[in-house]
Amino acid sequence: MAQQQRVAVVTGGASGIGEATVRRLAADGYDLAVIDRNIADAKSVAASLATGGRRALAYSCDVADAAAVDRVAAEVAADLGPATVLVTSAGLIPNTESILDMDMAAHERMWAVNYGGTLHACRAFARQMIPARHGAIVTIGSINSVLPLPIPAYNIGKAAVVRLTQLLAVELGRHNIRVNSVGPTYVMTPPLKAKVAAGERDMAKIMAVHALPTLPVPADIADAVAFLCSQQARSITGVLLPVDAGWQSAVSYRSYAGGVPWSE
Ligand SMILES: NC(=O)c1ccc[n+]([C@@H]2O[C@H](COP(=O)([O-])OP(=O)(O)OC[C@H]3O[C@@H](n4cnc5c(N)ncnc54)[C@H](O)[C@@H]3O)[C@@H](O)[C@H]2O)c1
Repeated sequence: MAQQQRVAVVTGGASGIGEATVRRLAADGYDLAVIDRNIADAKSVAASLATGGRRALAYSCDVADAAAVDRVAAEVAADLGPATVLVTSAGLIPNTESILDMDMAAHERMWAVNYGGTLHACRAFARQMIPARHGAIVTIGSINSVLPLPIPAYNIGKAAVVRLTQLLAVELGRHNIRVNSVGPTYVMTPPLKAKVAAGERDMAKIMAVHALPTLPVPADIADAVAFLCSQQARSITGVLLPVDAGWQSAVSYRSYAGGVPWSE
C-alpha cells in the first residue's frame, strides 16, 4: 500500500482508543476521516492533524444508523478518496447486569452501536476497497470477545464482532482485503476513568487478574491496529489479536483450585 493514496477511516475517532488510532495512522502517513457522533471532539482531533499537507476531516454520524453510515461513506470518498483502511472503534461500555433484569432498550441500543455499527461501517467501506483490490479493516473487539463476563449486551456483542471479522476475512479475502480484530483489556479511556471514579470498577481487582503490572494505554492499542494495517501483516487475516497485559493467562492461572505458588 505504500505507493498508493492512503485514506484511513476511524469510527469513534474523537476519543480514547479511536483517537489514539487516528493519531498513529496520521503519523504513518494516512489521510484521515474521523467519524463520531461527537462532532465537536471529532473536529478538534481532525484540526490538530491537518498540518503539513495532511488531510484530516471530521464527520458526524451515529454508526447504529446503516443509512447514515452509507451517506457518510459517500462523503468520505468524495472528499478524500476511497478508504484503504477502516478501524471500527465507536462503542458504548456498560456496567454489570443480570440477563433476566436488564433494561431491554439499553440492551438493544448497545447491540445496535457495538455490533450493528461495526457491521454497517465494514459493509460501507469494504465496498470502496473492492475496486482497488486492497485494504485493511480492523475491528475493535475486547477481552469480552473471548470469555463470558457479566455485561451481557457488550459481552455477546464483542463475541459477535469477532465472528463478523472472521466471516468478512473470508468473504473479502478474494478481493485482497484483510480483516482482523484487536482485543484490548481494560484501557484507561474516558468511560473507564468515569466508572472507576463512580466506584463501578475496582482497580485492585482489575490489576489482580493481569500478568503485567500495568494496563495498556490507548497508544498501545493503536500500535497493534497499525501493525495489522501494515505490510508486515500482509498474510494475517481473520484473527483476534489480544492486547491484554496477560489477562487471559492470569484469569486461568489464578483460578486454579489448588491455589497459586505465590501471591503479589
Ligand atoms: N476502554 C476499555 O477498557 C476498552 C476495552 C476493550 C475494548 N474497548 C473498545 O474500544 C472502543 C473504544 O472505546 P474507548 O474506551 O476508547 O471509549 P471512548 O468513549 O473514549 O470512545 C468511543 C467513541 O465512540 C463514539 N461513539 C459512541 N457511540 C457512537 C455512535 N453510535 N456513533 C458514532 N460514534 C459513537 C463516542 O462519541 C466516542 O468518541 C469501543 O469499541 C470499546 O468497546 C474499550
